[in-house]
Formats: sequence, C-alpha cells, structure tokens
Amino acid sequence: MLNTLVDEDGFIRKLRVSARVKDRTYYSLSVMAVSAYLGKEPSAVASDLRMVIDTRFRRYMDFEDRYFYIDYKVRQHQRDSAVPVVSFYDVLHDMERVKAGRGADLFKDSIVLVYPAAEVGHDIHLTPLGKMPGGFVHINGIINILSGGTVDSPGYIPVVLLCVAAAALSFAVRTDNVQKSILIFTAVIGFNIFVPLVLWKFHIKADFVQVIVFSFVFFASAGIYRVADFLARLSAIKDRATVDPLRGVYTLRYFRYRIELEARRRRLQAIMVHLRDFRAHTDDMPIDRLKEIWSRIHGLLSNVNSFWAIYSPEEAVGFSAQRRERLEVVLVSLQERLTRLLREMGLGVEVKICAAEYTRNSNPFDSLAALARQARSLAANVLMSSDIPPPGEKPDAGQPSMAQPQILDSLAEDIEEKNRQLLSLYEKLKDEHDKTKEAFYQIITSLVNALEARDPYTQGHSLRVAEYALLVADKLGWPPDQKEKLRKASLLHDLGKIGIPDAILHKKGQLTDEEFGFIKQHEIFGVNILKPLKEIEDILPWILYHHEKWDGTGYPHGLGGDAIPIASQIIALADVYDALTTGRDYKKSLNRQEAVDIIVKGKGTHFSPQLVDLFVSVI
Ligand SMILES: [Fe+2]
Repeated sequence: MLNTLVDEDGFIRKLRVSARVKDRTYYSLSVMAVSAYLGKEPSAVASDLRMVIDTRFRRYMDFEDRYFYIDYKVRQHQRDSAVPVVSFYDVLHDMERVKAGRGADLFKDSIVLVYPAAEVGHDIHLTPLGKMPGGFVHINGIINILSGGTVDSPGYIPVVLLCVAAAALSFAVRTDNVQKSILIFTAVIGFNIFVPLVLWKFHIKADFVQVIVFSFVFFASAGIYRVADFLARLSAIKDRATVDPLRGVYTLRYFRYRIELEARRRRLQAIMVHLRDFRAHTDDMPIDRLKEIWSRIHGLLSNVNSFWAIYSPEEAVGFSAQRRERLEVVLVSLQERLTRLLREMGLGVEVKICAAEYTRNSNPFDSLAALARQARSLAANVLMSSDIPPPGEKPDAGQPSMAQPQILDSLAEDIEEKNRQLLSLYEKLKDEHDKTKEAFYQIITSLVNALEARDPYTQGHSLRVAEYALLVADKLGWPPDQKEKLRKASLLHDLGKIGIPDAILHKKGQLTDEEFGFIKQHEIFGVNILKPLKEIEDILPWILYHHEKWDGTGYPHGLGGDAIPIASQIIALADVYDALTTGRDYKKSLNRQEAVDIIVKGKGTHFSPQLVDLFVSVI
C-alpha cells in the first residue's frame, strides 16, 4: 500500500503518484512499481518508458501536476485489517525490515495491490456495467506489470512512419458517405485496440500512446484532407461561376462582393473603362475572334495592379488601391495602350477611362452606374473624377443595401445569371436548328419537284408512296423519328431517275437490255446525289435497296429476305401499288382490288409474305 498524507480529519484528498529518488528525479508510480517488480533501477525502466518527470523540465511543470486529486473522502485504513498493509516506501527502500517484521513469505504467491493506505469512502464511477467502485491506473504501467516487462520505445522514426501511413490510409478510405464514415471510424478504433492485444499475445508490446497518436493522426488527416478538398472545390466553383467565359474577367456580381470586402480594409479607386462603339464593331464578329480580342484587352488590364470585371459589353470596371496621383499616370498609359491595341486589330474604338474614389456607404451599383455615365459622356481620354456618386446623384433608396455581402449569395446570383444566359443560348440554338430543318425540307421538296417535272406521268408519285409507306409504319408501331426517316426515303426513292436520259425514261414499248441496265442504276444515282447531305445518310440504304426482291432476284445487289432493309421492303410495296393504280405510260391504271391481287401474287417472290398481308390490311 502506498503511504499517503492525510488531512487533519483523517481523510485523504490528494494522492501523490510520483516518487522522488536520490538523483532528485521524479518517477511515476508505474515506473516505481515496475522497477520494484523487476529489481531494476527506476532510471533504467524510465529510459525505456519515457515516463520520467525529468528535473530539467521541472520548471515548466506545475507542481500540482504531480498530484492526483480525489474528490471523495478516504479514511485511513485500520491497522487491524485482514488485508496486510505494507508501506510502498518500506518495500522500495527497506525490504529486509519488512520481511523481518511481517514474515519472509508475505508476498509469495500474492497479488499486490498498490493503492492508498486508507479506506475508500466514495470511489464510485459510472461504467458501462453500472456504478462500480474502482480507481484509475496508468494503462502502460498496468501492461508493464501484467506482461512482466517494459514497453519498448520504438523511437521517433517509426512513429513518424506510422503517422504518414495513417494519413495515407485516411486518404485512401476517404468518403462523403456518413454510414461509410461511421463504419470506417468503428473499424479503425477496433483495429487500434485489437492489434496491441494480438501483439501482446506474441510478447511484442506496443505503446498505447502511439496507438492513440495513430488514431488521432488518422482522423485529423482525414478531416484536414476534407477541409482542403472542400476549399479547393469551392475555389474551382467560384472561378467557374464568377469568370465571364467570353471575356476572361470577373462577373459584375462577384466584383460587387470583392469591392465591398476590400473597401472595408483600405481606400479604393473605382475605374471604368469605356470602349466607345465597341459593340458596333464586334456584334457580327465570330465568337473566336471576339474571345481573342478580349483576351488581349484583358492582358493590358491585368498589367494595372487592380481587380477587373465586366460591367457591360462595352465596359470593364476595376478597382485599385493605388494613390490617385500614381493611378492617374497608370491609367493614361493604359488608355494609350488600349487605343493602340484596338487600332492594330482594326477596330475604330475610342477608349475613355474614368476613375473616382469608391465610397463605402453608397450602393455599389448606383456608384458604378454613375461612374459609367461619366465615362460614356467623357470628352477627355482619362478623368480622375471626384468621389462617386457625383453631386445630385443620390443612391437609390429602393435598391437593397449590400452592407454585408456574402460570397455564397454572390455565387448563387452568378450561377443564376449563367443559367439564364445558357437558357437564352439554348433557345437561339433551337431556333437555328429549326431553321436548318426547314431549309432541309425545302431542299427535299425541290429535288422531288425537279424529278417529277421531268416526268408528268409520275406527278405526285413520291408523295403517294410516302403516304402508303407511312400507313404500314403506323401499323408496325414505328416511333415518330423512324416514320419521319421513312417519309424522307419514300419521297426521295426515285430521285436517281433525274440522271436517266429522256429517251430511256420516256420510251414507249419494250426497253433493250442495255436501256434496262441503265434504269437499274437509278438507285445508285440517287444515293450519289444525296450522299453529301449528312442529315439523311442513314436512309441511303433504304433508297438503294427499294428494287430488291424477297427471292433475291431484284437489283442492284440481289439481296433477299430479311437482308433487305424493312424500310426498303415497305417502299417497294408502296411503289409498286402506286404504279399499278396510277398507270404508267403505256399501261392502264388498275383499281384497288386488281392491284392488291397482283401484289398478293408476288408474296414470297417479290415481297415479304408478312408485309404483303400487313399492306393489304391497311391499304
Ligand atoms: Fe424506283
């Protein structure tokens, strides 16, 4: 038992847990216990444990640190207790006397509890098992005693390596998922407790302090990584949201946020650069050229030590913390260089620059509007104006005050603005697309008209073929885009006849083999004519194969059965039906039933049997 000092009423209220030995060094209770148990000098144990309270550090340590406070009453133990009570210091310094007085076998086969030699009155703690009596003991001290040895200190290098590994591990398992985080947290805690236990089993002792350091580094580095990652992402989002993509300078809303922020710290001069008639010169300019011009303008602006944003398509606005006199010189030079640059690029644009001290208390939008008005009506090239807004231009009371701008609000507004711009761009593109589509229909109509103008007997043939083909497609349940393609293919299926000489096309009576060979080329002519139109390249095979037959005796390639695109098969049916019912040249026209009979005869030879049934059911 440990000798302790008692208060006047016989209770112990504080307990010394370090002991001083002859070299005036203080050792913890754990060191003293291990040293007594192993029969080693405390200094030898302490050099491994690093638990020594070194005299060199004493001046940095609060004397009170060496005391362990107990806030309950402990009554000094009765001498006649059944439990033998021996002074810890007697054991340490005069074991022989203890043995003589209490018997040589006092500690033989005994568990020795080192504890205050007093009765514990209220040593109750809340534990997972309920309220239990007990005390706190240094955990490494307990390990030392239980394992019969001392913890080897691995030195600094393994600890540093362990920390690096912890940081790498936390990076590898980083996640934004809460459930996963909880799982990883539990796993790491479990791992940290489990590994030392396993190591002790193999008589390798790990230091719990290092385990705690490992855990701490693991979670701290994961936290630091997340914060750094968040900030990097925020910065990327900020740049994306706040930079005008065309001009490469900041947006006005972000500018407003920045100028208000900066104006709290120092005096600022607001600068308005007006490029007179810039729009008139650049409105019809290709976007790449405009981007290049703005990139060069931006290059000159950024030479001036200031922060720039776009105010309008003809104005850039900036602020600078330079003194007025110095700024004036800089702005005169900027005006000259900008004028020269724009002239070199072939733009007759006048450059006017107006600057004035920015007054924090005014509404920033009103101030900048006033400055822009001044710049627009400026006769001189550069003007250092009085404070803005000028006399008579009171801030608009209706505008909300921006006394406390928030970056997130500013970002949200910028993103909204960009969304609006994107929507309007999308509408424009849609308009363009509709116009292109319209022009394309006109091309098809013109081609069909050109074809039919050559052969009055085929007037309306293409339109009717399209009509019949769509009846079949409807029955087959084709989606609208497929039907639209079929309509185009039907309209254009005979376009190649444009390339066939009149003598053959309009010949009455039997064609020679050579002439028929020419006619057979019309699908290929058609495809060659239409090839440059990328919009319809996927319907070219439908046109090419509209004279193929189910039994493989058709042309141009002699395809048969399902090798013929189904759209071509549909067009073939519609084509033949219309030819039969309208009559061509020397043939008389047939009625529906007569035509259907002929088509049904072609079932399985000229046409697909299923498609014939379908066609007959819709026609
Ligand atoms: Fe044809």
